[in-house]
Amino acid sequence: MSQNNGLNRRSFLRNTGLAALAGAVAPGSSLAAAAGAAMAPGDSTKFDFDTPYSRIGTDSVKWDGPIATGNTDKDHLVAGMGIADMDFRAAPAITQALQERMKHELWGYLTVPKSFNEGIVAWNKRRYGVDIDPALMDITTGVHPGLIASLRAFSPPGTKVLLTTPTYNGFYGDLRNTGTLAEESVMKVVNGRFTFDFDDFERRISRETNTFILCNPQNPTGNCWTPEELTRIGEICLRHRVIVLADEIHCDWVAKGQKYTPFASLPNKAIVNNSLTFKAASKSFGLAAMKCAWYYSTNKDLFMATKANNRADLTTVGMIASKAAYSGGEEWLNQCVDYVNGNHDLVQSFVKANIPLIKTYAKAEGTYLVWLDVSQVAEKIGAKDKAAAESKAGRTVTPEQIVERWFVKNAGVALNPGNTYGAGGANHMRMNIATSRKTLQAALTSLANALKSGNLNTAAL
Ligand SMILES: Cc1ncc(COP(=O)(O)O)c(C=O)c1O
Repeated sequence: MSQNNGLNRRSFLRNTGLAALAGAVAPGSSLAAAAGAAMAPGDSTKFDFDTPYSRIGTDSVKWDGPIATGNTDKDHLVAGMGIADMDFRAAPAITQALQERMKHELWGYLTVPKSFNEGIVAWNKRRYGVDIDPALMDITTGVHPGLIASLRAFSPPGTKVLLTTPTYNGFYGDLRNTGTLAEESVMKVVNGRFTFDFDDFERRISRETNTFILCNPQNPTGNCWTPEELTRIGEICLRHRVIVLADEIHCDWVAKGQKYTPFASLPNKAIVNNSLTFKAASKSFGLAAMKCAWYYSTNKDLFMATKANNRADLTTVGMIASKAAYSGGEEWLNQCVDYVNGNHDLVQSFVKANIPLIKTYAKAEGTYLVWLDVSQVAEKIGAKDKAAAESKAGRTVTPEQIVERWFVKNAGVALNPGNTYGAGGANHMRMNIATSRKTLQAALTSLANALKSGNLNTAAL
């Protein structure tokens, strides 16, 4: 019980009224059902995001992953706040559609129903004013396979792919998969907000640069790029014949007062014609493991070249869930986005008031992610020296991995290490706040306690 400075997971949960969930909850158990009721009692229009829905014991990367490392256990883990999925029970429309389909106990090959494509087209038109030509839209088993298909089409092995960093670490896997190389343009921070360094971006384009992966809204910084920023970056790409691969998987997560601008909605049609867009319902509705995504373009040549490299498969559950999300999940999503917006406000105020060793940037404009500067924590716990000593002894360990482990062991909170997000990511951690407010509050309180000067455990990890 040396972990968590004496405050274990049970005591946090008790303090925040979560004691009933302190143990592992098997999916489908009555406890899981009771804890995660989708609707608040007596109110048919307000969805319940407040009641924590335990994922421990469900093979979830976010919660069971940190336990599997052996650095914590189910009694000490206060919150898994890593990989980008949500802790909320799915929208009732999704569960109902899946339950209905389960009644037919046969899972053979599937044609893509017209209504699936129509749902995607209608959603993008209604919410974002984008006209997608269904003939220039194709399904993929995820945004990654879609991006990989485009990279195979346009970026031969050994050529460069532009990234504006820090950026989603999964892109580096796509580059490895296609034998391409990252050309990183580190973003600038102006008044706490990230922005592109346009001159650096342009300077980095060479004859070997064929593609740029745009992340909009941006993971991990949360930026919703403005029409001006997108146009300027689009003009540079057009001028240098660099194709824009716009990953807009986080598009439905937009903070209050902010706006997501689809790259394909820019008024300059030449810029739009130089792009493909990759999307899914998975981030919006918590369907990540359903493996269902799609991409589109206004440019038939770019679309066909990508399609030629896309081995598309559609799973029955992925199709049913995504279709139901778009046709019946909008109110749930709107309320969820609103709820997460409140979580963002809480993180901003709590960290500023109670965790002086961690610095936030301007409130994220989109996504359910928070990008945190932990350089002072790294310094206090001697992360650099520890990482160097461990690396000397064998496997390469980064200072951010030391901070990650320290947070798990001392606060029971699992975050993602910033160095994996490319240049500019060192000394940072990414926090996923798509969780109940109680869990978020417990995690922040646990971090604050662990980082109090009297509590700060600088002993070897
Ligand atoms: C920006 C971004 N793109 C793509 C993905 C993964 O997409 P998929 O699971 O559809 O392959 C993620 C997941 O976190 C992401 O944040």
